[in-house]
Amino acid sequence: MRATWLSSFITDTIYLAVGAWSSRLVGSPLQRAIARRRYGALAASYDADVIPQDGYLAPIETALDRLPATPMEVLDVSTGTGAVVGVLMHRFPGCRGAAVDLSPVMLAHAARHARERGWSVRLAAADAGCLPFREGTFDLVTVQNAFPVPGELVRVLRPGGWVVMSYSAGGSVLPWIVRSLTGQLRALGCQEVETRRVGSGRYFLAQRPGGTVHA
Ligand SMILES: C[S@@+](CC[C@H](N)C(=O)[O-])C[C@H]1O[C@@H](n2cnc3c(N)ncnc32)[C@H](O)[C@@H]1O
Repeated sequence: MRATWLSSFITDTIYLAVGAWSSRLVGSPLQRAIARRRYGALAASYDADVIPQDGYLAPIETALDRLPATPMEVLDVSTGTGAVVGVLMHRFPGCRGAAVDLSPVMLAHAARHARERGWSVRLAAADAGCLPFREGTFDLVTVQNAFPVPGELVRVLRPGGWVVMSYSAGGSVLPWIVRSLTGQLRALGCQEVETRRVGSGRYFLAQRPGGTVHA
């Protein structure tokens, strides 16, 4: 389990550093090829080896506890096998869900979970850097343990909607990474930007200005 945690720490740090340095790297032909290959190979063991790690969902659960209203239209980006979709469906019964990932193999596992667990979610193969949704579509957009692309996440949020970027093992990333990501969210107009460590993880929570999301 320690080796799995170390690998999660390294990948979370890479995701966060790329997002902090230049999220334009996300979705490049090389990045897409690496992700499809890596996650195509990991998908079969992902639910057994990665998701049961202690505290895997703790940062995102804590961030979602902070939401002042119930979102109806929710999107999980880079969903993998759909761990966060399960959290959203449990917390917000009746919400309309969407989830995207680049890896068709990871998505196939998410689709099986959706069928077996009765989730109301539309799944699509898509790049986090170029989401196939119109501006202002969602009340809540989440990304967990994957590349943060703040501009694209905020673009598809309704005014007053919330974005959560959450990292299960990314709690002790370097301060410049935290400063860069919070700075990007503020530059996109999000006045309320909160980032907190939770166990060995961290979340970033921000609200798109200009409206209120109601139940
Ligand atoms: C570490 S997994 C996390 C999966 C899930 N969010 C979770 O927390 O269990 C990272 C996911 O990001 C996806 N991914 C990598 N690059 C992507 C991109 N450019 N666009 C969309 N998804 C991408 C991978 O296919 C993989 O499923």
